[in-house]
Amino acid sequence: MLLCIPNILTPDEVSALRAQLDVADWQDGRHTAGPQSSQIKRNAQIPLNSPILPDLQARLIRALTGNPLWMSAVLPVHILPPMFNRYEGGQTFGTHVDNAIRVIPGEGRQIRTDVSCTLFLSDPEKYDGGELLVEGHYGAQSVKLPAGHCVIYPSTSLHQVTPVTRGARVSSFFWVQSMLRDDTRREMLFDLDQTIQSLSAQLGMNNSEVLRLTGIYHNLIRQWAEV
Ligand code: NI
Repeated sequence: MLLCIPNILTPDEVSALRAQLDVADWQDGRHTAGPQSSQIKRNAQIPLNSPILPDLQARLIRALTGNPLWMSAVLPVHILPPMFNRYEGGQTFGTHVDNAIRVIPGEGRQIRTDVSCTLFLSDPEKYDGGELLVEGHYGAQSVKLPAGHCVIYPSTSLHQVTPVTRGARVSSFFWVQSMLRDDTRREMLFDLDQTIQSLSAQLGMNNSEVLRLTGIYHNLIRQWAEV
């Protein structure tokens, strides 16, 4: 499931993040690339030891975990601390698949990447190019969202960022280990949860069919979740 989730951050929160990011020291994104992706990755990143990183990461994680739509779609167990990248002057990231396992910096704990997230921090009219292209069963989908909006997609997908030919594309990117490693199950649970929310708004959450569906939702999580 590829899903765009609006308004993870307010315009004021985006501006506050950008104020810190725009004056920070950036490094070549190949520092954190593996052998295959270092051939095709051309961008800049905030270094993992940057002093501004912990506060920015905490703010983003608070915003994400406080967003009911994001939580319902991702069902997180572990969130890899968000990182930040910037593409400008023709920079691009060619077609690749993200590593299956990543290590939480400083902790050494390994997490499985089930869901990939990109949170856009530049308004689309400020740059040309920079689309995220995600390949899926129905062909490639092109994603370029307003600042503060986020896209999630299965980490199993091949994807790329097209060259940025004007301006700069700043974003945050990170991965989540979900309770549901299987994207199809995650999507079915998301659809079920959204349907329950909608029925519950129409019929009340104590309606007997709403209660029954809520029970099915939780029992499916009991069957499938790995926590
Ligand atoms: Ni990637």
